[in-house]
Amino acid sequence: MTEHGIPPTIEWCGDRVRLIDQRRLPATLDFIECRTVDQLCEAITAMAVRGAPALGAAGAMGVALASVRGDDVDAAAARLVATRPTAVNLAWGIQRTRSAEDPVAEAVRVAEEDVERNRAIGGHGASLIDDGARVMTHCNAGSLACVGYGTAIGVIRAAHEAGRRPSVWVNETRPVLQGARLTAWELARLGVPHRLVADVMAAGLMAGGEVDCIVVGADRIAANGDVVNKVGTYGLAVLANHHGVPFYVAAPKSTFDPNSPDGASVPIEQRAADEVTTVAGTRIAPDGTEVDNRAFDVTPAELITAYVTEDGVERAR
Ligand code: MRU
Repeated sequence: MTEHGIPPTIEWCGDRVRLIDQRRLPATLDFIECRTVDQLCEAITAMAVRGAPALGAAGAMGVALASVRGDDVDAAAARLVATRPTAVNLAWGIQRTRSAEDPVAEAVRVAEEDVERNRAIGGHGASLIDDGARVMTHCNAGSLACVGYGTAIGVIRAAHEAGRRPSVWVNETRPVLQGARLTAWELARLGVPHRLVADVMAAGLMAGGEVDCIVVGADRIAANGDVVNKVGTYGLAVLANHHGVPFYVAAPKSTFDPNSPDGASVPIEQRAADEVTTVAGTRIAPDGTEVDNRAFDVTPAELITAYVTEDGVERAR
């Protein structure tokens, strides 16, 4: 069901997977259909679908695809899990579907439950947002990063729906610009007031007392509470700590990984150099420039004020 002009990010359509092609947003709301596991793997790698909970649903639907096509499910699962190593939800979605009697029904359930969970996260998290709060967010942890509703944006959205009048500082989120392209697109559809800022403005905004709290999502939360999320999140948490700004992490339980003891044990995806050397297809760095393009960083647990899950708010400090 499309809400506020935002369709489900990913859907099971009988014998194929239909997903929003997020590479084309905000210019065009376009869909692609994956009929094979290879097509779905390509869509994940190219970030046509991205965001931890959406990857969980994609993994689940990938296993469903393999099972309806009569493919080797183990081989399909191995290919799917290798597409993006950091978000633990991908492996979680694959595992859940693989161990189910009816993989298709289970994949559909994973998708349905995602939206219910995010509404619960939003409901709990809204209480953290004061009336008129200026909330900063990084990357896109909205409907587009999930099947629907969103986690960090879900918290802001629930506060907006409850009449708390939040406004949002949207960090553009170099290099892939999920903030500028996706979060700004979603917030416009939701009617939530927001302003897009270059990532490098965060320090000045916090120093000026213009940020009341920060809410982000997570790709993996280690057993000790360290949060692995979009690169740049750690810097924001350090700044928030310095300026006394509460730093909240909103994520479903499927993002918590008891098998990763701490953030340092989580694999950090290294992505292609051209994400950094080009902007919107135009090269900005000299040919031959070496690049380090780590897509995620680790925020130590001690910098986090509270975790918001479908079960409630857990204050860390
Ligand atoms: O590289 P991406 O766009 O998949 O990274 C997404 C993020 O870092 C999100 O903050 C995270 O997955 C949480 S989404 C609810």
